[in-house]
Amino acid sequence: MNKFMIGVLIGMGIISNAIAIEQKLPEPDKQGGMPLMQALSERQSIKSFSAKEVDDKTLSNILWAAYGVNRSGGLRTIPTAMNQKDLDVFVAKKDGIWQYNANDHKLVLINKENILPIFATQDYMKNAPIVLIYTGSKDGDYASMHAGSAYQNVGLYAASRGMASVVRGYFDKDEVAKALKLPNSKNVIISQAIGWED
Ligand SMILES: Cc1cc2nc3c(=O)[nH]c(=O)nc-3n(C[C@H](O)[C@H](O)[C@H](O)COP(=O)(O)O)c2cc1C
Repeated sequence: MNKFMIGVLIGMGIISNAIAIEQKLPEPDKQGGMPLMQALSERQSIKSFSAKEVDDKTLSNILWAAYGVNRSGGLRTIPTAMNQKDLDVFVAKKDGIWQYNANDHKLVLINKENILPIFATQDYMKNAPIVLIYTGSKDGDYASMHAGSAYQNVGLYAASRGMASVVRGYFDKDEVAKALKLPNSKNVIISQAIGWED
């Protein structure tokens, strides 16, 4: 189908939901970095963020650490019970809400709304440039465990890069679920702010 036809169909509202806006992420760094034992020594919650943005390469590393595919078969940087991929990772940034597609290592736009203010329930969050949102299926016990593994990986990556990060449960989860357009079968588990220390 040519661009003109696509434009006409979008104009008529026929395929408006069918064309996803996507952003391919740069290749993550899979080598080097701070030695693991040093990163463990330095891991901590840092509750102070500057307004400095997180560049795409760093975001790519963060998401790959959280839930990226690290070997064949679509297996991940975190262990997954019965190989279930019942966790989803979303990124809230000023330009909107994006869902991480690990298989293609890309972001898919959900909504252009800036929902960062929903997470600003504590003063130190006012400048946080990025909030990761971990969601999962309500069935079974494992999605929240998977979220815990993912946020720990991100916390270690943050420590290794000298970034500020903090896991956060204090926000309106229903409001976020609505913005993310989650189906009833899924819920918001936890969030994690990441950026640069002020
Ligand atoms: C599941 C979970 C939820 C948390 N929720 C919040 C929160 O809503 N606000 C906050 O300031 N810190 C939150 N924290 C961070 C804790 O305050 C922090 O991990 C704790 O003080 C220990 O500090 P440390 O991470 O530097 O070891 C949360 C941590 C976890 C693991």
